[in-house]
Amino acid sequence: MATGTGKMVDLEHGLLDRSIFSDQDIYQQELEKIFTRAWLWIGHESLVPNPNDFFCTYMGEDPVILTRDAHGTLHAMLNMCRHRGNRVVRADDGNAKNFMCTYHGWTYSSDGGKLVSVPGLQEAYYGELDVEHLGLIEVAHLDVYAGHVFATWDPEAPSLVDWIGDARYYLDLFWNRRDSGQQVYGPDKWVLPTNWKMPSDNFGTDNYHTTISHRAFNIVTAQRVGQRPAPMFQNFGQANPMYSVRGHGVGGSFRPERSDAPFVRNNVGDPAFTKYGQEIHPEIEQRLGTFRANRVTLGTTAVFPNLAVHLGSTMVRLWLPRGPLKTEVWGFQVIDKAASREMKDLFRVHGMLAFGVAGMQEADDADNWNQCVQAGKSLTARKYMQILSMGLGKTEAQDVLPGYRSPHSSNEDRQRGLYQRWQEFMDAESWADIPLYPPTAKYEGTATFRG
Ligand code: FES
Ligand code: FE
Repeated sequence: MATGTGKMVDLEHGLLDRSIFSDQDIYQQELEKIFTRAWLWIGHESLVPNPNDFFCTYMGEDPVILTRDAHGTLHAMLNMCRHRGNRVVRADDGNAKNFMCTYHGWTYSSDGGKLVSVPGLQEAYYGELDVEHLGLIEVAHLDVYAGHVFATWDPEAPSLVDWIGDARYYLDLFWNRRDSGQQVYGPDKWVLPTNWKMPSDNFGTDNYHTTISHRAFNIVTAQRVGQRPAPMFQNFGQANPMYSVRGHGVGGSFRPERSDAPFVRNNVGDPAFTKYGQEIHPEIEQRLGTFRANRVTLGTTAVFPNLAVHLGSTMVRLWLPRGPLKTEVWGFQVIDKAASREMKDLFRVHGMLAFGVAGMQEADDADNWNQCVQAGKSLTARKYMQILSMGLGKTEAQDVLPGYRSPHSSNEDRQRGLYQRWQEFMDAESWADIPLYPPTAKYEGTATFRG
């Protein structure tokens, strides 16, 4: 085990060293060992729908330009001029065939960042500049899963199909449910004084907090549709098993009974969502097969390392690392392209009600994440390990659904899985040392990995 971090995750006893949320050296190692190796979500095809569209995003702390070239091919390049290192593209998004650096005018193409123009190339450089090899730095691999664009800096990384693995079985329920695909809106951006792993931990999947943290939200949303909120702690009396896969913090559930509209969960109980779910249900059955369409649901989910996928608010969110004690949050609405204008607005408004910049659940969660990191960073606090032992030893591999089954929905198996993955990356010298959890699931229906 060659690592500068030592063993921070004790899976046998369910303990975690709090230093990983505040230590500057560990943070620097994360940038190198996780964020330059893993496949990272960098956007969605719908953010760059036309030739020469671009969208500025990040891979960890690295600024990246996602482009669609004149022939429709996607590219992703480091947003850094090869001359003095200036940020080449300053806009959030737009349409441009070429990108000119504002400092001295070096100009790069959108089809992979070729250096197409250098002022004074003949006169000042005497024609001796190696223009061919001074294009923008392109990612090592870029690939697309159901319209969602991922990239990695590491040439040795496995395929995206292997990286996503059995998480696809569950993610399809949100990302791959309609023939016409999805439209992504956003992002809303804001900054939290927390470590990026704290929200990843929460979204992948901390069902334990919902009763307490979101009590006010649960009361308000129940009253809004004329219902009484469920009694506190009611969910602890219900077993409600959860399924998870290794490598990501995916949460899925098996429905013993067929449901009419299993895919249009929303956090506010509005009947319009149920109606919409019933309308699109035949299409979902055709795409995902009868079994998944009727018996499987997607819970709150984290795709390693820093993407949250939340069907209830129809959002994905990036937790961008900005130092051990700072995270920039980017929230995107992910909405069925073929939905009516009215439904799209409903999805958007209800998503923002829960998790927008001023979302009610956002405020509940964020303050807890901030305080966990701020209170846990002191010398004395770091002497006491974080407790991750809930449901230890109660999770079993099974074959009804891919992955592992936890008998109770409140179970820290998924968090242990997330930190196990974290330790695997931190221990590894290269991709050759990182275990893979390739796909095992069988798929029915017409949907493919591509969409
Ligand atoms: Fe970009 Fe000089 S820094 S042209
Ligand atoms: Fe929450």
